[in-house]
Amino acid sequence: MDLDQFARALPKAELHLHLAGAVNAQTFLKLARKNNVPLPPFQHIEDLYRYDNLVDFLQIYDLVARSVVDADDFHLITYEALAHVAKAGGRYAEFFFSPQVHQDAGISYETMFSGLLKAMDDAETDFGLVSRLIPAINRELTIDRSFEFLDRVLPFRSDKVIGIGLDYDEEPFPPAPFKPVYDKAKKAGMRLTAHAGEGGPAANVRDALDLLSVERIDHGYRVIEDPELVVRCIDDNIAFTVCPSSTVILTHWRDLTAADHPIRAMLDAGLKLVVDTDDPPMLQTDLAKEYRLLGETMSLDRRTLADLALNSLDAAWLDDSVRRDWR
Ligand code: ADE
Ligand code: ZN
Repeated sequence: MDLDQFARALPKAELHLHLAGAVNAQTFLKLARKNNVPLPPFQHIEDLYRYDNLVDFLQIYDLVARSVVDADDFHLITYEALAHVAKAGGRYAEFFFSPQVHQDAGISYETMFSGLLKAMDDAETDFGLVSRLIPAINRELTIDRSFEFLDRVLPFRSDKVIGIGLDYDEEPFPPAPFKPVYDKAKKAGMRLTAHAGEGGPAANVRDALDLLSVERIDHGYRVIEDPELVVRCIDDNIAFTVCPSSTVILTHWRDLTAADHPIRAMLDAGLKLVVDTDDPPMLQTDLAKEYRLLGETMSLDRRTLADLALNSLDAAWLDDSVRRDWR
């Protein structure tokens, strides 16, 4: 069995995937045409999935999101994204979606959730992939908007809509101001995670833990700049959902073979890492490829890759009875 086959066969969970980032280019084109969304000039639609930094990426990400309009569109992109996870050997998925960009295009939360939740049910019935949804706050918008987000999301809280996240550009938008929103979400029984330490400093990871009370950190690479914080995260068994291809394309850590790549340093430090895709077709990847890439570029043996896959099951927000069935 070669490494790709091994990575594909590994039982693993996807815990960090953005729905609008998981729309394949052909579906993007189809939906943009159907819904009359103007696109920049391109020769092949895949050309629009090229960028080399987060800000440029997020512009296309928003354009993809704007192409998704009715409940059937939400169903289509969710079903395809989950099928893609299953094809890569994902056994379970927790995924983000960004309701505010759709809301700004005039789409109701009812429309979004009806298509999404039906597709999650259908994916479970048709190919056995169990999934959970984590609506995420766009940190570039106001705190008032994030309270409004929460008020609109909470009525949908269920065994399928289980938590909230915080995404978009972290560098100018640190986590601290979102504390009251996270406090309210926690009181309402939501699980909590946030993007931190992707573009922002280690202090953002600390603030996400201390102020937002998050249980996991998405990306978190710059934690490595604060050795004391690293020790604390190990002691507290904090999981970091790291996304290898995303670092190569959207951050300045371009070389996964480099000794100072933060994922290498995080592994060496003994942090609990979960390997994820972030935005699979937009970053030309899938979950198995991310494991294979790490294995190849960081010379990880199969035991280590299997341990990473076990981390994904441990860090999943599943109740223990379900998790036991997957082991
Ligand atoms: N949305 C989609 N991918 C993202 C990333 N890597 N960072 C922040 N927001 C995102
Ligand atoms: Zn992300």
